[in-house]
Amino acid sequence: MRVTVSGIGYVGLVTGVALSYIGHTVTCVDINEEKINMLKNGISPIYEPGLEELMSKVRNKINFTTDYKSAYSTSDVIIIGVGTPEREDGSANLDYVNSVCEQIAESLRKNCIVVLKSTVPIGTNDEIERKLNNEVKTSIKVYVVSNPEFLSQGTAIHDTLFASRIIVGTDDKYAASVMHKLYEPLTKEPYNVPYLLTSRKSAEMIKYASNDFLALKISYINEIANLCKSLGANIEEVSKGMGLDSRIGNSFLKAGIGYGGSCFPKDTKALHWLSTINRIELKTIKACIEVNETQKLILFNQLKKDLVDLHGKTIAVLGLTFKPNTDDLRDAPSIINIVNLLNSGANVKAYDPVGINNFKKIIKKIDMNNCYNLEFYESIDDAIKDTDAVMIMTEWPNIVNYDVAKYKKLMKVPRVYDGRNCYKLESMKDIIYFSIGR
Ligand code: UGA
Repeated sequence: MRVTVSGIGYVGLVTGVALSYIGHTVTCVDINEEKINMLKNGISPIYEPGLEELMSKVRNKINFTTDYKSAYSTSDVIIIGVGTPEREDGSANLDYVNSVCEQIAESLRKNCIVVLKSTVPIGTNDEIERKLNNEVKTSIKVYVVSNPEFLSQGTAIHDTLFASRIIVGTDDKYAASVMHKLYEPLTKEPYNVPYLLTSRKSAEMIKYASNDFLALKISYINEIANLCKSLGANIEEVSKGMGLDSRIGNSFLKAGIGYGGSCFPKDTKALHWLSTINRIELKTIKACIEVNETQKLILFNQLKKDLVDLHGKTIAVLGLTFKPNTDDLRDAPSIINIVNLLNSGANVKAYDPVGINNFKKIIKKIDMNNCYNLEFYESIDDAIKDTDAVMIMTEWPNIVNYDVAKYKKLMKVPRVYDGRNCYKLESMKDIIYFSIGR
């Protein structure tokens, strides 16, 4: 099948590479020439473990171009994977989706299936199908199918090939049969991915409801963790005990300093916005968002309580990305914490194995006048040397496996605020140690 994937971010690129791996001929289109040139040279513009290796395996079945006209005009299936970032009011911004649809409308020369993988408000697929069919020649028919994505950054290849499920939203028999053909290899050995056909609106809702449920689980466990701490229980034992109940499940019960990334913060706000304008406010999601905002500051507030005045203090921040195995910093808890530290007069020494360049871009946009108090380090030893406290934001393996004796050896005072519960309590006995829910 000839497939074009539009938008070369995490979703688009991984989808394109995975589809070519299972046998389709794929063209990836993006307006960003620099990205396309990197991809042509076998270099991934995003940090995703295993992606470049898979790209090299499929290089004869995939090509990258900015020439959207010829790509769209010859495709059987066009997959849209562009971003839908949040607007200030929390709603999803569909500008990228709309501009790709305009390009598709002007390029199509034959009937085509347009698959929307981007996360969009309920009803968007209907609207796009109506618009596209109005704009193309009357002899051409466009079928729009909702096909939400469930991959996580850092494990994106595995999450696509061995997906938890493939959701295909369409009421049209022809579109359903083409979609089945597209994904058939993944429904068989060795992948055996469950395949569910739904209406378009249900498929759109499955995406939001799934992401928001996971976010809710995190906010819930974070609140339980805070209560555990004040009552003397241990959240790790509690999560383990809860997770043994298969009705609850053991994933997404890891307490920490709150969720970040490009999905949960945006999708909780978008669903809350959508519910509010439909006058059925989702109170659980509202609470989930509020809990997360407070949780992000739990280390900072404790540090301030302990040290009273942060002015002139030197604080190391270990881990900048919103989670390990990605260079993505969107909505990462590290940002607000570093901004608060700098605004309180502290000097910050920041460490991350891959996220420093992206962090520099973000902090530049914030345009703070005390940025000169922020320095970046490529080694944990150098970052924590002579500091008054360490704050851990991301559970990168080299932070988790760090020799904790060095906190005592290298810091001015061994004082560690661990937002990801990286260490066993027994190993931190000689260190002033604050962790989550323990
Ligand atoms: C999330 C979903 O997990 C994917 O299924 C979905 O496809 C994706 O969003 C998307 O909509 O594109 P992702 O944002 O890559 O994936 O990352 P997650 O692994 O879900 O983590 C999100 C945040 O939750 C991270 O900040 C992580 O540290 C935090 N988290 C996760 C916890 O605090 N505790 C947990 O137990 C799990």
